[in-house]
Amino acid sequence: MTQARAGLRETCRAEVEEILARYPERRSALLPLLHLVQREEGYISEAAMREVAEIVGCRPVDVFDVVTFYTVYHRQPVGKYLLEVCRTLSCALLGGRKLTRHLEERLGIQAGETTADGLFTLREVECIGACSNAPAMLINNRIYENLTPEKLDAILEQLRAEASERVAPPEGERQGLP
Ligand code: FES
Repeated sequence: MTQARAGLRETCRAEVEEILARYPERRSALLPLLHLVQREEGYISEAAMREVAEIVGCRPVDVFDVVTFYTVYHRQPVGKYLLEVCRTLSCALLGGRKLTRHLEERLGIQAGETTADGLFTLREVECIGACSNAPAMLINNRIYENLTPEKLDAILEQLRAEASERVAPPEGERQGLP
């Protein structure tokens, strides 16, 4: 059974009010409210879009247009690590597509999908402003430049290690340790 979504006005009432107070027009608060939803819920569901529309006083379709225009907003849950490979010209000419294919192969998913363990979501995006050091990608909004398949392998290994460290119990609480 899916859990009912608690409204933003319920979970973050003070923050919503604080954001609205920053703008003379409620509609101007649209983008920061969407950021707040994404921070709290990980993505922006249709229910959240309807709620934000109500808060700022516009139509849900207007919120939908904004959410679908900006790639920074997620309409589906994403993995712990969001891998966004640039597919625009400079990167494409210097092997960007090869990087995407390499990641698809290593992760066993296609661009646009999330691994079954929920660790990685892979996407292709337009220019991320690192053209002079192409090919480049973002991982959770941090830029990685001058990439090669070998560098990607090292990065994936590092991210997997980091993820397993975070879920491992603290030293001394592990099974069999005194
Ligand atoms: S073209 Fe890839 S960062 Fe600009």
